[in-house]
Amino acid sequence: MKACKGHFSKISLFEPEMLTDNYPPINKSWLQLEEDFKIKQVSRIANEIERLKEILSRKGLKYSTWIGDFSTVDLGAERNKLWENAWIISNCKITGKESVLDVGGASTIFSFYLASKGCEVFVIDIDWFNYGLVSNAQYVNKKMGWNMRIFKRNITLPFPFQNNYFDHVFCISVLEHLPSSERQKVSREMGRVLKINGILGLTFDYDEKRGQLEKSGDNGLRFSMFRKIKTDIINPSGLSIYGNTKLTDDCPKEHFMGALFLKKRATNTIA
Ligand SMILES: C[S@@+](CC[C@H](N)C(=O)[O-])C[C@H]1O[C@@H](n2cnc3c(N)ncnc32)[C@H](O)[C@@H]1O
Repeated sequence: MKACKGHFSKISLFEPEMLTDNYPPINKSWLQLEEDFKIKQVSRIANEIERLKEILSRKGLKYSTWIGDFSTVDLGAERNKLWENAWIISNCKITGKESVLDVGGASTIFSFYLASKGCEVFVIDIDWFNYGLVSNAQYVNKKMGWNMRIFKRNITLPFPFQNNYFDHVFCISVLEHLPSSERQKVSREMGRVLKINGILGLTFDYDEKRGQLEKSGDNGLRFSMFRKIKTDIINPSGLSIYGNTKLTDDCPKEHFMGALFLKKRATNTIA
């Protein structure tokens, strides 16, 4: 294999064990999102996602916006969501042959993109505000002839999948909305259904003003709360960090958004 000029070429060649703290972080916040979009692999995926949005819109098919409904469009927020999607996908090996699970991702362009690449895509989502996220996803899948299975189901219940089934599991902007005990249940299940060498790609945010969990004083997750990430996600999942283990939290104190990759190694055990 030829020597790579940049570390990101190495990432795009999928040499997972070569990702160490000497390489630029993949576990990072979105602060440099425009810089990240200049990386070839990220920009290719971002462009393909945008093209897929156009194709679906031309066919009159709906996908959810950044806020998880079908109406609210905020261009800045959509750009942030594009980073989440493209960053996660570009740092996982996707050839189109994978079986993947998207936890809390019904009707997202993220899950539709993976299906459009040929992946077998499973989604579990409860459709928390009854927007029709699950029925729309099932409709779009049928119209597009993709290989998706979308379950209307509470993710805090045991997943209806066997151990070690999925090449990758994703959970984008979901865990911060759950109380700690439920995050732990979901994390355990995500680790259980992931194959050895599979990657769990997560994004989560922290919002000082978040309403749902205020009573417990929990406004979400951020790298500077690493102990919470360990207790709520890493330990119950039984997985270990993939890529840089130094998680630098350089976001403002009011708000954080970042991506974290975990890997199932043969030596991992569930806590
Ligand atoms: C903030 S949205 C994120 C949606 C999507 N992953 C994205 O990136 O845009 C949270 C999603 O998680 C789902 N969700 C929240 N709590 C859930 C639960 N207990 N069981 C199943 N799905 C849940 C919601 O229905 C919603 O689709």
